[in-house]
Amino acid sequence: MTTRNLSDEKVCLNQVSFSYGNQDEKVLKGVNFTINPGTVTALVGPSDSGKSTIAKLIAGFWDVTEGNITLGGKDIKEIPLDQLNQEIAYVSQDNYLFDRTIRDNIRMGKLNATDAEVEAVAKAAGCDGFIRKLDKGYDTICGEGGGHLSGGEKQRISIARAMLKDAPIIILDEATASVDPENEAELQKAIDALTHNKTIIMIAHRLKTVRNADQILVLNGGKITQRGTHEELSAQSGLYADFIHAREEAASWKLA
Ligand SMILES: Nc1ncnc2c1ncn2[C@@H]1O[C@H](COP(=O)(O)OP(=O)(O)O)[C@@H](O)[C@H]1O
Ligand SMILES: [Mg+2]
Repeated sequence: MTTRNLSDEKVCLNQVSFSYGNQDEKVLKGVNFTINPGTVTALVGPSDSGKSTIAKLIAGFWDVTEGNITLGGKDIKEIPLDQLNQEIAYVSQDNYLFDRTIRDNIRMGKLNATDAEVEAVAKAAGCDGFIRKLDKGYDTICGEGGGHLSGGEKQRISIARAMLKDAPIIILDEATASVDPENEAELQKAIDALTHNKTIIMIAHRLKTVRNADQILVLNGGKITQRGTHEELSAQSGLYADFIHAREEAASWKLA
């Protein structure tokens, strides 16, 4: 029996509603969208609008309360978690490094990877240089929450981990949000290497990463209020146009 390859298949959210735990209030309310393979979808919107919740539901962290999410036409609840985990890499702003060596932290993306494979992805993610400068190089223990590594360095290690995993669908949850400008260029290179030829779902508040997306979904209060390309949404009044105008003076959705 051959395993069905889900990687060429769509992600669909169908009337998805969600509330956390036993809270009554829904944080997502009837969300519908389709992501075609090989495309870039940007999710934007104010803080607490539900962007990360959508990302985590797609990654299978929780089950939807109503509606369903399908991958290749199959309800993700019916896809074994280890298989879903092979299909989707989730990179967030607070990716956790374990109290193990850097080498082991990267290898979590693919447990049987050779040292050469680990070092190749570290190079591609722009980590190899700073890792080699550490006293013990790849054998440096990351320490609690990453020890003395900077935020941007930790991010690039988690990107190397995701690259090694080589999942067809990549979710980037505000991956550049907490990084200083010098590190941002490095991080952006790593992200470009990670996302090449993949299906991308990005939660981003920086205009330059959003404007080239194939589809932009604007979320507000748990609902999609606008959808389209940068050109389409810029031409309508609404949150997206407000975002663009706010960008001229300020920095991000967080300020909207
Ligand atoms: N683990 C959680 N438990 C309970 N409520 C949560 C949890 N995570 C997020 N929320 C709430 O869900 C809503 C949407 O949050 P989130 O998806 O993180 O929004 P965004 O990523 O757009 O900032 C917010 O009101 C937030 O407080
Ligand atoms: Mg978030």
